[in-house]
Amino acid sequence: MLKGKVAVVTGGSRGIGRAIAEKFASLGADVAVVYAGNAEAAAEVCRICSREYGVKAKPYCCDVSDFASVKETVAAVKEDFGTVHILVNNAGITRDGLAARMKEEDFDRVIAVNLKGAFHMIRHCSSLFIRNREGCIINIASVTGLMGNAGQCNYAASKAGLIGLTKTIARELAPRGVRCNAIAPGFIATDMTDSQSENPMLGMIPLGKMGEPGDVADAAAYLATARYVTGDVLRVDGGIAM
Ligand code: NAI
Repeated sequence: MLKGKVAVVTGGSRGIGRAIAEKFASLGADVAVVYAGNAEAAAEVCRICSREYGVKAKPYCCDVSDFASVKETVAAVKEDFGTVHILVNNAGITRDGLAARMKEEDFDRVIAVNLKGAFHMIRHCSSLFIRNREGCIINIASVTGLMGNAGQCNYAASKAGLIGLTKTIARELAPRGVRCNAIAPGFIATDMTDSQSENPMLGMIPLGKMGEPGDVADAAAYLATARYVTGDVLRVDGGIAM
């Protein structure tokens, strides 16, 4: 389904990003795995993609909040893979706290990684998409960006911002054949939600359980091939934000 396509997945070394990288590889895409720190984990994801699915996969260490590093990384991916067809902006962090007590640096860092990082990747991949007259951008937002969540003003703002970014890029690049969509996951079992097992909001999920990274990867695979869908926000949340 994705044979001949090159996908870049940020934060692809674990959790949701890893599931997306492996899903895309299973559908035949070559994969560039962008990671922040854990080189061994990123290398392992690439080994699995190559060994199990026979695609080309390579890790790239890059802090997505750094404009110049992202530029270099996209250039390296172009050198290694020839181009980029699919970009998944999945890298994300939390620095939770009530707004009244939040440190300025915690607000800034979350915006820098979650929102500006996605802009940096889009900014540097766009010329490749435009040249190819095709492209698919998938931004991993969150239901927190739709509903808000006490204790996460920085995270919620970054994810709501990502939704505005998604719709604007969808409008700007639609005439060039480039689609841009967001996924808004609810509670997904990963390292990020390890500490959430007692969260009372879990009891409010209509489907009655947390999701798996594979549930988000399935949605990403749909968006990667949904030729007439752009500017959409697809909730993968067990119904919590309906
Ligand atoms: P995770 O913490 O397991 O993975 C996050 C990934 O982002 C890691 O690979 C990390 O290395 C990477 N990353 C962090 N900062 C980076 C930077 N500056 N540059 C490059 N990479 C960086 O988290 P998880 O759960 O897999 O989350 C993935 C995405 O899904 C995030 O954007 C998160 O906000 C979003 N999300 C997760 C939900 C959940 O319940 N787990 C719910 C809604 C959204």
